[in-house]
Amino acid sequence: TRRILLDCDPGHDDAIAILLAAGDPGVEIAAITTVSGNQSIEKVTRNALAIAELAGLDPAVPIARGAHRPLLHEVEYAPEYHGESGLDGPQLPEPTRALDPRHGAQVIIDTIMGSEPGEITLVPTGALTNVALAVRLEPRIVDRVREVIFMGGGVHVGNHGPFSEFNIAIDPEAAQIVISAGWPITMVGLNATHQAVVTPEIRAKLDAVGTRSSAFVGGLLDFYGAAYAGHGFAHPPVHDPVTVAMVIDPSLVRTVKAPLAVELSGALTKGMTVADLREPAPATTPTSVALGVENERFWDVVAAALARLP
Ligand code: BDR
Ligand code: CA
Repeated sequence: TRRILLDCDPGHDDAIAILLAAGDPGVEIAAITTVSGNQSIEKVTRNALAIAELAGLDPAVPIARGAHRPLLHEVEYAPEYHGESGLDGPQLPEPTRALDPRHGAQVIIDTIMGSEPGEITLVPTGALTNVALAVRLEPRIVDRVREVIFMGGGVHVGNHGPFSEFNIAIDPEAAQIVISAGWPITMVGLNATHQAVVTPEIRAKLDAVGTRSSAFVGGLLDFYGAAYAGHGFAHPPVHDPVTVAMVIDPSLVRTVKAPLAVELSGALTKGMTVADLREPAPATTPTSVALGVENERFWDVVAAALARLP
């Protein structure tokens, strides 16, 4: 079993990532930390607690609130995709568990330093603010982590700007700190996640699971699908769980090693992730980028996880 720390901003697709991690026997959630992004830190933290409740997550798993804003940029949310609550659509269960009193960045540090070297995989699915703060507070986490697999960015594709993706664009300085840290890190960007779409056939498969969790995901997808339809997507791309799926089964995602950096000063391209795909990448390159996902098999893994949840 792979132990993962989810750093997230739920968020419809973040919520599905948490449910996938909670239901799949191949991964164990070591902690959940939240970050300002899809909605305010208060809202996304409440959403994380509610999803943990729905999933019946062990109350011993810490859930902690992290950064309330990006490092340098002004705060920015995504209500056009996630609504005013950050999880518009289904009815959320009332959270009963208590929030961990530590800052999310501290929980990232404590979880990694308190585990065996190479044990924890860091899975960020929001802005990289908490992870950047953690790297600066305790640089020893860089050598101790197994790897980092984050959702964000893309190669020559964008959703926030022509070449920039939301998680990176709202806190590009944090993203550059995390991407340049030196640990093994894979960017699961829009090239891959725009393939992780819910077709009507896949939706029918999810509905057929018949658990409370799968019904909840259906409610999420109703709102989220309508929001994406307004942006020209026939089928909504469900970004964040692709990271967790890659931990469960790396063969689901096609990746290549490539030097990677965030554009921090481009007049038209600030927040763009720049991957150097010229071959061969130097053997020591610690950065990889995902370029595709096997969509049918990906959703089979999600459906199997939802079947194991309440
Ligand atoms: C990313 O932005 C957020 O709105 C989603 O949760 C996902 O992490 C997609 O660009
Ligand atoms: Ca997210």
